[in-house]
Amino acid sequence: MPIEIITADITRLNVDAIVNAANGSLLGGGGVDGAIHRAAGPALLQACRELPQVSPGVRCPTGEARITPGFRLPARYVIHTVGPVWRDGHSGEPELLARCYRRSMSLAFEHGVDAIAFPAISCGVYGYPPEQAAPVALRSLRDALAMGPPPHVLLCCFDEAMAAIWRHALNDAA
Ligand code: APR
Repeated sequence: MPIEIITADITRLNVDAIVNAANGSLLGGGGVDGAIHRAAGPALLQACRELPQVSPGVRCPTGEARITPGFRLPARYVIHTVGPVWRDGHSGEPELLARCYRRSMSLAFEHGVDAIAFPAISCGVYGYPPEQAAPVALRSLRDALAMGPPPHVLLCCFDEAMAAIWRHALNDAA
């Protein structure tokens, strides 16, 4: 599976697209969302504001994805997706998380992206246990990679502890 687990600051990666773990407003936040907006500059927020609201205050529902330019980032595109907030694992979280990866990959294929980096969606503020998120994400990515010429997929963890969890899951999926 052309998926590589790395430890890095996703805002510094020189890839076609980086994925943002956003919230439904797409108006920024903390974590990787905050880092991406800081690095991209104010034009990113402006581009997000111009995306249509699908309901009051919501530009991207949970499990969906939207694409914008990367502006000052090395990446050409930012694919914004909204992961599920972890409750108990039986409230639809796995399906919604899988959809985040699938929808982001669909946008990557549509835009001819040949290298894409994902953060560990929902594994921070949204509380998704990474040991449970990683297998869901990798299965979804494996299915999505069958959709067309596989882009180079990077799972960009922010620390080695997280990377070890994802590498373990990748080895299990092999
Ligand atoms: N590069 C790579 N990964 C990062 C970076 C970075 N610069 N900064 C944070 N991360 C990692 C976190 O350590 C975590 O493993 O991204 C993962 C996702 O964590 P969050 O950013 O908290 O995202 P999430 O859990 O999906 O929560 C989304 O947080 O920031 C708000 O607006 C956002 O409301 C939304 C919520």
